[in-house]
Amino acid sequence: MATDQLMALDLLAAVVTTAAWLGAGVAAAYRRPRLALSLFAAAVPASLARAASVFALSRAGWWFAQEKVTVALPLLLVTGLVATVLTGPRLALAACRPGGAADSPAVVVPLLSTGYAAAAGLVVTFVFGYPATWSTALITVALVATAVLVTWRPGSVWRRAATAAILVIGLAGAALAFLPAEATDTGGGMGHPGEPGMRGGPVALTSLRGPAAPAPGGTVRRYTLTARTATVTLSSGQRVAAWTFNGQVPGPPITAAVGDLVEVRLRNADIEPGVTLHWHGYDVPSGEDGVPGLTQEAVLPGQEFVYRFLANRTGTYWYHTHEVSDRGVRMGLYGTLVVGPRTMGVDVTVPVHTFAGRLVFGDHDQPIGVRVAPGTPVRLRLINTDNTPHRFTLGGTPYKLVSVDGTDLNGPGELGRVGLRLPAGGRYDLAFTMPSAPSAPSAPSGPVAVLKADDRTPAVRLAPTGESASAAPSVARSDEDTSGWPELDLTRYGTAVTSGSAMPFTAASRFDRRFTLVLDRGLALVSGRPMYAHTVNGRAFPSIPMQMVSAGDLVRMTVVNRGRETHPWHLHGHRVLVLARDGRAPTGSPLWLDTFDVRPGEVWEVAFRAANPGLWMNHCHNLGHADQGMALHLAYEGVTTPFHGAHGG
Ligand code: C2O
Ligand code: CU
Repeated sequence: MATDQLMALDLLAAVVTTAAWLGAGVAAAYRRPRLALSLFAAAVPASLARAASVFALSRAGWWFAQEKVTVALPLLLVTGLVATVLTGPRLALAACRPGGAADSPAVVVPLLSTGYAAAAGLVVTFVFGYPATWSTALITVALVATAVLVTWRPGSVWRRAATAAILVIGLAGAALAFLPAEATDTGGGMGHPGEPGMRGGPVALTSLRGPAAPAPGGTVRRYTLTARTATVTLSSGQRVAAWTFNGQVPGPPITAAVGDLVEVRLRNADIEPGVTLHWHGYDVPSGEDGVPGLTQEAVLPGQEFVYRFLANRTGTYWYHTHEVSDRGVRMGLYGTLVVGPRTMGVDVTVPVHTFAGRLVFGDHDQPIGVRVAPGTPVRLRLINTDNTPHRFTLGGTPYKLVSVDGTDLNGPGELGRVGLRLPAGGRYDLAFTMPSAPSAPSAPSGPVAVLKADDRTPAVRLAPTGESASAAPSVARSDEDTSGWPELDLTRYGTAVTSGSAMPFTAASRFDRRFTLVLDRGLALVSGRPMYAHTVNGRAFPSIPMQMVSAGDLVRMTVVNRGRETHPWHLHGHRVLVLARDGRAPTGSPLWLDTFDVRPGEVWEVAFRAANPGLWMNHCHNLGHADQGMALHLAYEGVTTPFHGAHGG
């Protein structure tokens, strides 16, 4: 059974267990001994089922069961055992005797207490999440004991003693919560004094900037992007209030060839919270990365900042503001970055964005129509600029998924009726040769290739030139229901490579650092404010320990999703190689990603070479989640920054 199903099953077992114990106690108190007995008879096996489901979860990974094994189950099993011994026989007796009563405290209190303990297990999972600490455990015990005491109402001597004990336990738990946390996580690494980046003492991040000139043969690609509020008109004529670069959404497309110097002057006209430019997926020098408070200060109205970086690899990327990025990107502060060579033929870049409640492709809220001569090579570059995944289908022609996150796949095979799930922030390049219009008289003519998003919305229609744009058949074709098409599993697509630059390391390599990120929800401080946060290892930004690496390190990162939402994980400044998903190594092309969807219950193992010294964000690209705590920093030893804004999101 998949881990997310196990998690659901375990939740069900926990709820049923809680309800059965509480119900038995209430029924007993209201002199319904038969009902109490049957609920009790359900509660015992339900508790055992809960123990079994927790055991099964722990086999999927300790992260999925830690707080259940250490807090929830001991509480449930101890109170449940006491309740069974104390009340079982009495309940049975009372239920058998006509008019038998079961409302004595000796029956009611143990039953209800077990119910409280079972409920506390749920609270631990949902309020505190992973990992349960001594603090969580003590506070939970104190809470359960308080509830028991209030129900029990023992004599004053007992009451005073119990109250004192609860106070001590509760205060100890609360005090432990204020223990200072580790500020850094070295991932088991020792530091490599003498490695590049360390030599000659600390390196200021402000010195890690792009070059002043292009590579030999390259040119300077100059852009000025002015961030300002504007009303933009979508292709349908609908007008929406937006935050824009140069008055347009998406912002001006930035293109370059390998060897060019990209120079972008960012100006802020009137975006009050400020803006920056982050080059999503492009591994620029750290000082050009556009993270406010870390690599620069936010650019406020009236200010400007100039970014310079060398176009040193081809592919499809995008840029977006990183200041109040959740709101800023949603409002329109993003654009595309494509480094050539571009396809001779038709090369269309399609950023997909939800704008004013509808799907927008580039600046089209209606399908983009393209006329293409049969035989022409076509490349569609899909970019998901939203916070959640989109599913794409391409009908009407076989095609290949040739590139993911700017890296070409090895030996991609021909695809037909499949769905492509593109994570938030991710990019897929699709390639095919424009087919001729069907020649058989019975075959439908008109648009040949239709790209759809989320199985509903046609995004791009490519019609062969020389065909009349007869509407009826094309509607039939694009109306084909694609929702049943199976999802392509990227880890099995393409051809494996066992060595060389595409596969410089494997799961068997010796890693200098290992980090584990367990993603969950829980109560935590986000920039000093208590919040039901999106957490990493039980903490939220900025108090998640900073990951420390040294230049040259081989770093392994395990990302675990314990929650019920998908987290598109994104590390700045580095591409990561996928080693395994749920323990299984990819069997297809090597997968180098900058954004990967960690779905509920999944465990991803990825690795990268620390070869880009600086200070980097490592965060969920559901930018709302990042905003609610799911962000941390990865730092190279010895790199210092003069900026200390607390945002980063
Ligand atoms: Cu595309 Cu830190 O983001
Ligand atoms: Cu997330």
